[in-house]
Amino acid sequence: MMKAPHKINIAIDGYSSCGKSTIAKGLAQAAGYTYIDSGAMYRAVGLYCLRNELLGENGVNEHVLRASIDDLAIEFKHDRNGSAATYMNGENVECEIRTLEAANAASQVSTLRFVREAMVRLQQLMGKQKGVVMDGRDIGTVVFPDAELKVFLTASPEIRAERRYKELATKGEKITLEEVLANIKERDDRDTQRAESPLKRADDALLLDNSHLTVQQQLDWILKEFNRITGQNTKNV
Ligand code: DC
Repeated sequence: MMKAPHKINIAIDGYSSCGKSTIAKGLAQAAGYTYIDSGAMYRAVGLYCLRNELLGENGVNEHVLRASIDDLAIEFKHDRNGSAATYMNGENVECEIRTLEAANAASQVSTLRFVREAMVRLQQLMGKQKGVVMDGRDIGTVVFPDAELKVFLTASPEIRAERRYKELATKGEKITLEEVLANIKERDDRDTQRAESPLKRADDALLLDNSHLTVQQQLDWILKEFNRITGQNTKNV
């Protein structure tokens, strides 16, 4: 009987809207791994704050959020095709967490240490059995510092804004390209300059600038790296 190939964890970090989830999902599908969108977890916490009016002019109501964070059950349910939906306390919040409002709320709550600690604990549990492709901002540096494959994705702000604008327009969000670009720059600043686990490339992360690469080219690139590390011959599906 053939021995099952040993599984690894893969960390994909990078700026917002640079296509992390596309490459992470593609790799997970090809390798038969589980894809985990860590940003969705911060978005769920952000949504919780929006719903409970915990975000005000003076920032997040930390006192109330701190009291409820450990009771917030955030999980993913995967369907047969490997697509995942985010659940918060048993409710499917996948659509609601994808708005710009939820993204901004996520960006605020993700600066708080106690929120990060709670999410990192959950993420590490999810990766305990290996076989996980997780994308985010601190996966290679904090969540899985021992991940066997780490990638840091970049693309120019203008290209990211264009991609994101198209995505939001399809969903019917009324917003201009300039607004999307301003939002991306604001989030880049917050992600890279926050005190807690700022976005940065891990020393051992491979750098991929996908500004001028197709999805196919990115997938080919990451599969080559995956095969090099695991000794497998996994092909694009
Ligand atoms: O990747 P995203 O846009 O869905 O992430 C939403 C917010 O959560 C974003 O502002 C950055 C933050 N985030 C984080 O701080 N750490 C992660 N591992 C993932 C996301």
